[in-house]
Amino acid sequence: MNITWVRKYPTGREKGRILTVDMGGTNLRVCDVCLSAGKRDFEQIQRKYKLPESVKTDTKEVLWEFIADRIASFLSDHHPGEKPNKPLPLSFTFSFPVDQRSIRSGILQRWTKNFNVPGVEGNDVVPQLEAALKRKNVPVTVVALLNDTVGTLVASHYRDPQVKMGSIFSTGCNAAYMEECRKIPKLQDAGLPEDATVIINTEYGAFDNERQVLPLTPFDHQIDKQSARPGTQIYEKMVAGLYIGEMLRLMMLTLHKKGVLFKNQDVTRLETENALEASFLSIAEMDLSEGLQDMREEFEENLGLEPTLEELKTCRYLIGLIATRAARLYACGIAAICQKMNMRQCHVGVDGAVFNKYSMFKGRVAQGLREIFDWQPGEVGLIALNAAEDGSGVGAALVASLCPSEEELGPC
Ligand code: BGC
Repeated sequence: MNITWVRKYPTGREKGRILTVDMGGTNLRVCDVCLSAGKRDFEQIQRKYKLPESVKTDTKEVLWEFIADRIASFLSDHHPGEKPNKPLPLSFTFSFPVDQRSIRSGILQRWTKNFNVPGVEGNDVVPQLEAALKRKNVPVTVVALLNDTVGTLVASHYRDPQVKMGSIFSTGCNAAYMEECRKIPKLQDAGLPEDATVIINTEYGAFDNERQVLPLTPFDHQIDKQSARPGTQIYEKMVAGLYIGEMLRLMMLTLHKKGVLFKNQDVTRLETENALEASFLSIAEMDLSEGLQDMREEFEENLGLEPTLEELKTCRYLIGLIATRAARLYACGIAAICQKMNMRQCHVGVDGAVFNKYSMFKGRVAQGLREIFDWQPGEVGLIALNAAEDGSGVGAALVASLCPSEEELGPC
C-alpha cells in the first residue's frame, strides 16, 4: 500500500504540454501530450518501443541509457531542430513498487515482472534516469514519477468522474484508489488536514507472499521457483499475463510426461521455459471453428507440435481453467478494494493488453464480481470495468499538472 502523493483528481482545467515516458513490463511508450484547459481534452503523439529482454537484466546504465536514447530519438523524430531554452518537463511512469517521499522521487522496493537490474533496488530511480539523460545530452528533467495504475486512475477519472479505481491487467497486475489520509496509519503523524486524500498504489500483486491464503497448485510453486524473484508477487504470478502462458506450458508438459498428450512428438520447444505468451491462450480460446485451425497453427508455430483434434480440445479446456482462475482472482482484488472503501457502485478504469485483447476476460471478471457481491440474475452489475486503453500518456501528463509545479508544463 504505497502512498503516491497524488492528492486530488484533475478538474479538467489542466493545460500545457509535457513529455511522458511509460516503462511497462513489455514496452516503453514515449508521448508528447498537450492538455487543453476546460475541454477535458488532449492531443498526443505517441511511440511505442519494445523493451528487449536483455535490457531487463543488464546493468543499470544499459537500462537507463536505453530509455534516454528512445526519448532522444522521439524528440528528434517529432521535434527536429527544436532547441528548448530550458529542459523539457518529463512525467515518468515507472510500473514497479516504489517508496515515494515526494512526487518527484521513488526508491525501488523490488523488481517485479522478471526484471532484475542490479543496483536499482533500494535506490531512487529518478536521479539514475536523469544521470543517463545528462550523459546522452537529452534536455529533459523529471517532474513527476508515478505508477501505471495511478496514471490509469487519473486519466479514467478525467473522462468519467464515476471512476474510483484504476487497474492494470497486463504483464503484471495491480490497482490504485483514492483514500482518506486519516485512514492511513503511515500518515497519522503527517499533520495533514482532516479531509485530505491521497491515491494509494495498492501493489496487491504482492498479496499473500506469505502463502497463507491463496490455494497454490504445484504449477504455481514451479512458476515462482523459476522466476527472477522467488517468494514475491505470489498473487500476480497466479493472475497476470507474464505467467499464464507458462502455466499452460507446465500443465501440458506434465500431461505429456504422463503419456496423455503429444505422444511420440518432439517436445523440445515445449520443454523450453517461457515458450508461450498470453496471446497463445487468447488465440486458442477465440478459435470457435470445428477443426480448431487457428489453434493448430499456433501449436505448430510456437511449439513445433502437430496435435490431434482431441489433444487440441484438451488443451483448450486447460486454457479455460487457467484463464478463468486468473479472471476470478483478479475480480477478488477489485472486490477487496470496493469493500475496503465501503463502495457498492463504481466504475473501474482498466488498462493492459490482457484485459483489452483477451476478449473472454472481461465477462469472466464481471461474473466473478457478480458472485462475490451476490447480484441477482437480471440485476445490472454495480461495479463496471471499463477499458482505459492508452491512458498512460494523458494520465502521466495530468499527474504532473496536478503537482505543485504546474507552471513547469510548457505551452502547447
Ligand atoms: C508492479 C506494479 C504495476 C503492475 C502492472 C506489477 O508487477 O509491481 O507496480 O502496477 O505490475 O504493471
